[in-house]
Amino acid sequence: MPPHELILLKNMSQPGYTGSLADYEKAGGYQALRKTLGKVAPADVTTTVMKSGLRGRGGAGFPTGVKWGFLPKDYRGPLYLCCNADESEPGTFKDRQLMERDPHQVLEGIVLACYAIGAESAYIYIRGEMVLGSKILERALGEARAAGYVGKNIFGTGVDVEVWVHRGAGAYICGEETALLESLEGKRGLPRVKPPFPATHGLYNKPTVVNNVETLANLPHILTRGAEWFAAIGSPPKSTGTRIFCVSGHVTRPGNYEVPMGVTFRELIFEHAGGMRADRPLKAFIPGGASAPFLTPDHLDVKMDFESVAAAGSMLGSGGVTVMEEGTSMVWAALRLMEFFYHESCGKCSPCREGSSWLVQTMRRIMAKRGRMEDLETLTDLCKNIAGRTVCAFGDAEVSPIMSTLKYWRQEYVDLIREAEAANLIRPEAVGM
Ligand code: NAI
Repeated sequence: MPPHELILLKNMSQPGYTGSLADYEKAGGYQALRKTLGKVAPADVTTTVMKSGLRGRGGAGFPTGVKWGFLPKDYRGPLYLCCNADESEPGTFKDRQLMERDPHQVLEGIVLACYAIGAESAYIYIRGEMVLGSKILERALGEARAAGYVGKNIFGTGVDVEVWVHRGAGAYICGEETALLESLEGKRGLPRVKPPFPATHGLYNKPTVVNNVETLANLPHILTRGAEWFAAIGSPPKSTGTRIFCVSGHVTRPGNYEVPMGVTFRELIFEHAGGMRADRPLKAFIPGGASAPFLTPDHLDVKMDFESVAAAGSMLGSGGVTVMEEGTSMVWAALRLMEFFYHESCGKCSPCREGSSWLVQTMRRIMAKRGRMEDLETLTDLCKNIAGRTVCAFGDAEVSPIMSTLKYWRQEYVDLIREAEAANLIRPEAVGM
């Protein structure tokens, strides 16, 4: 395992680091802000971020600087930054750690992003269940305001940035950027049709940038150490920097691991996370949150960068790697995730609203050994009629556990249905008695 430098988790890995303003400043915190505000033109900050190759860490991996560049030119009026802290993807818990353990790193990134795009207001939309994180952020904001890092006329440069923490109310869909905006506006969190994108029609219909917590936390480092430094880390040119991967499931040491992009799944699972917990062989893993299709032991040597995982038929997504050992029922695993998606479907689009219910009922029937062979065609047909036919990416996400388990472990479905058929043969009603 090559030695590598921690960037985002560095401070919190130091013994005794509390995440207070004093600790953050002692570790070099807010130097990027001092170096940048009023000294580097906002457009040059955007250029630096573009050159660094930083891509969104929420899941879609969209280039951050390019997204900022979509804001209308010569626009005079309010625009907003929203920090998407609604992290709800099953198996993903990195943003939570960043906010709870090093909140000022996130706040510094937010103020830098506001400066680059010309926003005077930023909202941190934090998942409702993260009560601790929201309290820690509020406390850190109080410290940052008192020290003049947030608020009016920062460092006397004339730059104003105010930041608010807004707690969600527990809906997964509110992590989808346009549902998040609706929710912030006080409406029910339902996704909007895109385009138009938030860059032009966002919060209160004004130009808005929505960036993930981890994405923003990278900014102080990029602006202190330069685009070239960042662009050389990981798997250049398209997957630069590190990622915090959240490893969960049947491993010895579940947790968050920050590694350069491009390490293999084998290295992450067997070296960093300590390998399988009970010496049973690995059977399956989800490479990037519940929305990402399952992969198999044959994919352990795939590099963890955006392109390589896509070429393997899945996605790096939100960075949640869930590991399953031999003996796990893949039908059960897919059903478990399907139950989650069924519960969280917002109901706006018929294919997702009706389809998720139908999928979950069919999966429950198979799992309860009451399935029929034609259920497999029904599942496939339903999935094909949901994916790509909804307003947001939820539709694609909810079908991926079923489609990928049917692809790699179809026999497990067949075996459960055969057992059901065999049991039916001896039921009196099945033979007309
Ligand atoms: P997307 O690809 O539609 O958009 C990515 C970003 O780029 C958005 O901010 C969008 O506004 C912007 N964008 C794209 N094209 C643009 C254009 N032409 N002009 C202006 N802006 C443009 O993906 P989306 O729906 O934002 O994210 C989907 C991903 O979210 C999934 O792949 C999944 O991995 C991830 N996800 C993460 C979760 C979490 O808890 N972190 C939860 C659920 C899903």
